[in-house]
Amino acid sequence: MANTILVGAQWGDKGKGKIIDVLTEEADVVVRTQGGNNAGHTVHIEGKKYILHLVPSGILRPKKVCVIGNGVVVDPVSLVEEMQGLQKLGIKFNDNLFLSETAHLVFPYHRELDAQRESLKGKNKIGTTKRGIGPAYGDKAARTGLRVIDLIQADRFRKQLEFKIRENNEILKAFGAKPLSFKEVHESYRRAGDYLKPFVANTVILLHEAVRRGDDVLFEGAQGTFLDIDHGTYPFVTSSNTTAGGACTGSGIPPHRMDRVVGVMKAYTTRVGEGPLPTENDEIADMLHAMGREFGATTGRPRRCGWFDSVATRHACMVNGIDELAVTNLDGLDSVETIKVCIGYRDASKKYDYVPNDLEAFSRCKPVYAEFPGWRTPTDRARQWKDLPAKARAYLKAIAELTGAKLSIASVGPGREQTIFP
Ligand code: IMP
Repeated sequence: MANTILVGAQWGDKGKGKIIDVLTEEADVVVRTQGGNNAGHTVHIEGKKYILHLVPSGILRPKKVCVIGNGVVVDPVSLVEEMQGLQKLGIKFNDNLFLSETAHLVFPYHRELDAQRESLKGKNKIGTTKRGIGPAYGDKAARTGLRVIDLIQADRFRKQLEFKIRENNEILKAFGAKPLSFKEVHESYRRAGDYLKPFVANTVILLHEAVRRGDDVLFEGAQGTFLDIDHGTYPFVTSSNTTAGGACTGSGIPPHRMDRVVGVMKAYTTRVGEGPLPTENDEIADMLHAMGREFGATTGRPRRCGWFDSVATRHACMVNGIDELAVTNLDGLDSVETIKVCIGYRDASKKYDYVPNDLEAFSRCKPVYAEFPGWRTPTDRARQWKDLPAKARAYLKAIAELTGAKLSIASVGPGREQTIFP
């Protein structure tokens, strides 16, 4: 399998957890390189449902080494809760999880500031997950953040936290919010620090040793291309590089050690949170929600839904260098009579075959559609390419061609077995 970067080719992709799980089978090491517990990857195995936020999905398979890399922002209390929840489901942590010493920490004041800033923005809010991700990356960039290596050194951590709580309480007071108790935060973070200490490592060295040994490493991206801080629909983005480059900076593995980039996308488009979504369509949203699909794994919010946008996805292929596509949720379109695919945008008399950077122009864009006949047959029992209806195969081939990458996986349901390798 070699070293593979897996990225979301749209806004945040349900089904990514499942594809990661499928690709993990061939990997020796699985690394998370950006984002935090804003991510939610759902994996279904033998009737059990696992929702992962910070722990790499590789943990669900025996003998895989999982790494939370330096580029991730970690809420240690919620990481401990997640690990304990997984333990209850029978997952064992023994020499299979490593947490980077230099990953930055998320604190309650980050969460509170996230919420306060959102409410101040009113209708212009980003629609964040309110997990404190933006403020935590903000501290990292401002060089005022605390890291995992600080958390596990009791004296140093106490002093640093005292200062941070004092500083942030002033800001919270200015917002009219309740100040935090140093004692409470300190106690819960020290407890989490003690629990996590055995897992803390120099993950850059560990990963380079793995690469030198010839281990296959899977870089598990969180969120999607259009939520990237540089390449997304700014400011309606998350605060990290969700595109392929983030896998390098967030792990310390250089670009020329990467062998391939796999892009995950749905057979349609979804987005949680605010910001432009040109192909948004209420009918398809109602249909998918009525099927019990498309509710955010982290916040439970209904996702906004629309037709497949080949212009946006082609852009994603370009900035990520996507070689192979994994198309998920094909079965979500099983009952649709005529399927639309966006092949361009129109803003008054102006036509675009790319994603405009001017967010106001992008928000005005109306999609230009091509139409494909639906197959109107259940596909969830298909296990091989030939089991798919001819119209479904034609649709998959067409969207791969429009986006300019090779179709390598199609998924027709949440189970591991519902995966087709064309
Ligand atoms: P934040 O990452 O919580 O700051 O949220 C910023 C934007 O990214 C919002 O639109 C969120 O809904 C979105 N977002 C963050 N994480 C995910 C994810 O894992 N999947 C989908 N959308 C996400």
